[in-house]
Amino acid sequence: MELQLTSIIFIASLLTLFSSIRSEPSGPGCDRCHPDDYNALMKIYNSFNRPYILASWHPNGNCSSWYCITCDPTTTRVIALDIEGKGIAGEFNGPVPIPAAISNLPYLTSLTLRKLSNLTGPLPSSLANLTRLQRLRLDYNKLTGAIPSSLARLSNLNSIDLSHNQFAGQIPSTLSNLSMLRDLHLDHNNLSGHIPDSFGQFAVSPMYLYLSHNQLSGAVPAALGKVDFARIDLSRNRLVGDAGVLFGDGKSTDTLDISRNYELEFDFSNIAFSKNLVSLDMNHNKIYGRMPIKMSEIENLQFLNVSYNQLCGEIPGFRHGFDSSSFVHNKCLCGPPLPTNCTRS
Ligand SMILES: *[C@@H]1O[C@H](CO)[C@@H](O)[C@H](O)[C@H]1NC(C)=O
Ligand SMILES: *[C@@H]1O[C@H](CO)[C@@H](O)[C@H](O)[C@H]1NC(C)=O
Ligand SMILES: *[C@@H]1O[C@H](CO)[C@@H](O)[C@H](O)[C@H]1NC(C)=O
Ligand SMILES: *[C@@H]1O[C@H](CO)[C@@H](O)[C@H](O)[C@H]1NC(C)=O
Ligand SMILES: *[C@@H]1O[C@H](CO)[C@@H](O)[C@H](O)[C@H]1NC(C)=O
Ligand SMILES: *[C@@H]1O[C@H](CO)[C@@H](O)[C@H](O)[C@H]1NC(C)=O
Ligand SMILES: *[C@@H]1O[C@H](CO)[C@@H](O)[C@H](O)[C@H]1NC(C)=O
Repeated sequence: MELQLTSIIFIASLLTLFSSIRSEPSGPGCDRCHPDDYNALMKIYNSFNRPYILASWHPNGNCSSWYCITCDPTTTRVIALDIEGKGIAGEFNGPVPIPAAISNLPYLTSLTLRKLSNLTGPLPSSLANLTRLQRLRLDYNKLTGAIPSSLARLSNLNSIDLSHNQFAGQIPSTLSNLSMLRDLHLDHNNLSGHIPDSFGQFAVSPMYLYLSHNQLSGAVPAALGKVDFARIDLSRNRLVGDAGVLFGDGKSTDTLDISRNYELEFDFSNIAFSKNLVSLDMNHNKIYGRMPIKMSEIENLQFLNVSYNQLCGEIPGFRHGFDSSSFVHNKCLCGPPLPTNCTRS
């Protein structure tokens, strides 16, 4: 009985492994792709040392039935290259950089190289040649070096995800020049320096900005107060000073995380809140003052953590009940769900 069960589990996991390696072709195919694109793809294939994940890329002269590419049937140009690993051993043959030949696919609108644990090295400067690129997703790899400011030349980009890599150095201030950009993920890297003041000038509204888990220091630029962030995550950096500018009742913010900067310090008493707020995390800072009574009116607040700050006074009544761990370790917060009674005078 036990043996049977074990073999069923074994077969099931083999099937899962097999089906997860064979992904679907990513979009409508061409009978025959443009020869320039075919040549570029073969160069990429060879630079990657003909990895198992691209086993469908038979050198057949026409790219037909190749996985991970999307070819526009009317122009026969390759418009998307989307390679997504599953972290299974053997997808890639060992550490490889992003091939420079990718810049020889000038019609790309989408480039994805993600979850490829053997993809390493810096972003090639030739990436800046892909001027039609709208979406760049290079998350969960082992990419290193600086984020090149030349990315700002790709004026059609609306979404950039470089998160979960080992990028270091400063955030290029020019990224805010991307007038279509609405989604910027630079979190979980080793970026240092300040958040650029220019990040108060993103053109698209609302904007999604993720900078958490880096080494960013200095003040939260006051200019960020001008931007309507739908989501903003600045947690786990070394930011200091006033993050109050990120709040505001005219905004559509649903998620705001400034937790674990340790030195963010501002008066919380008169903060106003987005009506859309669902999640607010500001634990481990030096935020002081009272919790505004109006917080109880935020209809959809599902997650709240103000623990480990310097807050004082009565905890407002919330529609959604929060347990004491959301409020512990403040200067003198009182009332339920904390055990401390408020002494009214
Ligand atoms: C693509 O090339 C292969 C090998 O040369 C051939 O068998 C196949 O028919 C070609 N497909 C098209 C659509 O031309
Ligand atoms: C990465 O490369 C090593 C060889 O250096 C290989 O053993 C490993 O399976 C590869 N990992 C993936 C996810 O392809
Ligand atoms: C791509 O960019 C590199 C360096 O940035 C440049 O030398 C090269 O000429 C460009 N190639 C194309 C096809 O535009
Ligand atoms: C960004 O925009 C500013 C002003 O709008 C301009 O001076 C600067 O040259 C631009 N930088 C890039 C890299 O496009
Ligand atoms: C991150 O950057 C710091 C310097 O800013 C450096 O000392 C450290 O080794 C880097 N860590 C990683 C994992 O690259
Ligand atoms: C709030 O944050 C503190 C500190 O990280 C943690 O111990 C606690 O479990 C958190 N509570 C909630 C509800 O997230
Ligand atoms: C808090 O107030 C309640 C009711 O007024 C009382 O029963 C309780 O003893 C008080 N607790 C403390 C710790 O003072």
